Formats: sequence, C-alpha cells, structure tokens
Amino acid sequence: MPKSSQKTGGDTAWFTHDRFGMFIHWGIYASAARHEWVKNRERLTDEHYSRYFDHFDPDLYDPAAWAREARNAGMKYFVVTSKHHDGFCLWDSALTDYKAPNTPAARDLLKPMVEAFRSEGLKTGFYHSLIDWHHPEFPVDGLHPRRDDADFRNANKDRDINKYVEYLHGQTRELLSSLGRIDVMWFDFSYSGSDWGWSKGKGKDDWQSEKLIELVRSLQPHIVLNDRLEIGGDIRTPEQYQPREWLTVDGKPVVWEACQTFSGSWGYYRDEYTWKSVDMLVQMLIDTVSKGGNLLLNVGPNARGEFDPRAVERLRGMGEWMRLHSRSIYGCTASGFTPPPDCRYTQNGRRLYLHLFAWPFKHVHLDGLAGKVEYAQLLNDASEIAMREIDPHAQVQNTTMSGSAGTLTLEIPVRKPPVAVPVIELFLKG
Ligand code: GLC
Repeated sequence: MPKSSQKTGGDTAWFTHDRFGMFIHWGIYASAARHEWVKNRERLTDEHYSRYFDHFDPDLYDPAAWAREARNAGMKYFVVTSKHHDGFCLWDSALTDYKAPNTPAARDLLKPMVEAFRSEGLKTGFYHSLIDWHHPEFPVDGLHPRRDDADFRNANKDRDINKYVEYLHGQTRELLSSLGRIDVMWFDFSYSGSDWGWSKGKGKDDWQSEKLIELVRSLQPHIVLNDRLEIGGDIRTPEQYQPREWLTVDGKPVVWEACQTFSGSWGYYRDEYTWKSVDMLVQMLIDTVSKGGNLLLNVGPNARGEFDPRAVERLRGMGEWMRLHSRSIYGCTASGFTPPPDCRYTQNGRRLYLHLFAWPFKHVHLDGLAGKVEYAQLLNDASEIAMREIDPHAQVQNTTMSGSAGTLTLEIPVRKPPVAVPVIELFLKG
C-alpha cells in the first residue's frame, strides 16, 4: 500500500484519516449570484461593485444549521473564505473597513461560524486570498478587474506591493491568533508564470511566502498548509478534476486534497445548472480516497445566508450514504490490490472495501484475492456475501462458470442494494 513519504511541517495525521471536508465560499459576490469572479469577469469598478457591499444583509444566516448539514453529510472539517479575491473580509479585521461588520450584516460573520462548526466536532480551516482586487496598494495586473482601463492603470502605476504584503501578513496574524486552534490554512493563489506584456503574474517573491509561512508556523505550528504559495506546503490541491492516480511530486506520493464544486461555481450562482448528482458525488469521494486523497466539497451560500436547496439535497444524499458506509472512507486509503472494472478499492488494515459503481449480474471476480479473504459482507446491511474459488481445470456444465487461478468470485444478489454505491467489506486473513 503506498504511503505519503512527503516530509512537511504540519500535522496531517488527522487529515488523512478524516478524508472529507466542506469548502465554503461566501462573500458579497453571493449578491451578484453569478460566480465569485464576477468582478474580474465583468470588469466591474469598485464603485459598481459597492452595491453588493451596501446591500449584503444575510438575515437568515444560521451557522449552527450549516454546521449540522456538514456533520450530517459526514464532513469532518471545513475551510471557509475569510477573504476572496474581491478583498471582502468576513471577520472584524482591525486592518480594513472592507468587512462584514460595515455592511447591513453589521457583525462579524466568521467567528460564529467557527464556533458553530467546532461545536459539531469539525476542524477549522481558512481559505485566504493572496489576490486582492480591492486593496489600493495591490498592483494592477492581467487578472485585475480594471486591467483593460488604460487610464486606471496609469493612475495606479505606483502601487506598492510591500504595503499590500504588510496587510496580507497582518491579516494572517489576526486570523491565526484570535480564533483559537486553526487546523488548515489555504492560501490562494500564485500565478508568477503569467505574463501579459504590460504586467506579470504574482508569486512567492511578491507574497514573501517564506516569511508568511514562518509566521503561520509560529502561530499554529501544527497547521496543515496548502501548496499555493509557490513553496512546498503540506498538501497538494488539484481543483475541479479527479487525478488518475495518487498524486506524486518528484516520483513520491504526497498528501493531497481534491477540491470540487456541486455545480462548477464556488460562489453562489443562481442560474448555473450543471449540478452533479448524488451518485456522481459519492463516486467522487470514493474515487478520491481510493487514490489516497481527501475531498473538499464546496458550498456557496446565498446572500440571505442560506445554503442553496440544491446543495442541501446533495449534502443529505451524501449523508445518507455516509451513515451506512463511512467506515470505507474514514481511516482508509488506497489498496495495493487492483479492482475489477467500474470498481474502487479502499483499505483500512485488514479490511478491504470494494465499491461497485456499476452492479453486475450475479458475480464479481476479484483477481489476486483467492485464499486471502476470510469473510465478505455487504456494508449497508452487514449481510453475508458468498465467495467461491473456482478450480480453473475443473469440468464445467453450461450452467456453471469456469474460473481462473487466483481469482475470488463473489456471489452478489440480483438486485442492487438501495444505496448510491454498494460496498462489499472484505475481511482479509491475518
Ligand atoms: C481558484 C479560484 C477560486 C476558487 C478556488 C478554489 O483558484 O480563483 O475562485 O476559490 O480556486 O480552489
């Protein structure tokens, strides 16, 4: 069984055990309701964008309800946007006026969230944007909403990134010293490889990443740090795709977390309809763990402070599956055995979990497992699954099946159990 051999500073033991977290993208872009990049995409001015700040009034915000949904879905940690690229801050930062307490919300929205999720037993993480399209000292580049406005660019050509970095580091200090133990720090993102001719992207030298990491580690030494500062980090973070195999760096398996959306947008998007089905989402979680990774699944609450009903339906569907099957997820990782087509294995010591994405007629053939399994059962109802090892040389009749050496054949019911993805729990011999 592969194991991550990456050596980093943070405590990833709980992380690789828990496997499933909730991402939350929430800010004033929820009012625009058409993607968290709306300011960039539509090249909006600060003046125009201020309408969302002036009208942000999440009157139905109930963080305890959010936390319950996350816990019931089987999620064990959450990562929320303290600030996204638009620069808006959810907490009562002393370093800016551009924050929730100054909107009609009139209060710190982050602290009660952290408290609510903690009391449901979830660990806490912050997504914090390195990019800032509001800060007056953030140099205008090719991603900035005003990139095409030559007058604006010219009038702002003397912006000083060092002043912005002071703010970035200062806010990081605030976040990591005023809210107790923080388990994950998720900075986003570096793009030093981009070049627009008149401007270049930003990366570790701009953010002073090394110094920033030192600060983070000094305040929360155990924290799990992501990889978007352009220097190391504890976890790799593939976004909106499922890796084909366990992620490696320099040929070595690393700790990783796929981040995924329900519908393609991170922020609340009213008119987006490419919502994934519960079945697809459950498969995504299994697929991730079968390759040794975590899944961070995103919710984009609306501007009244509620989860989209489409998200709630999916969270509950996943929760239903997790209620019966979480032991094929928590504490599990990739298996050294190769599964049959349309199946995934996860493994936790002597327990091997076979996940069937498609339900075949009567038989599942597990190569390499003959003689190795002491007992098999369906996980959803703990009902026995009969096993056969067929002698490859035996004479067979038309109504019996021939086998091949080394293969264990499971006899499964004709009817698929009524769950999104059936799981067969195989107890390996000691
Ligand atoms: C990206 C996007 C962003 C989203 C994030 C999540 O880098 O800029 O909007 O927050 O990824 O991984």
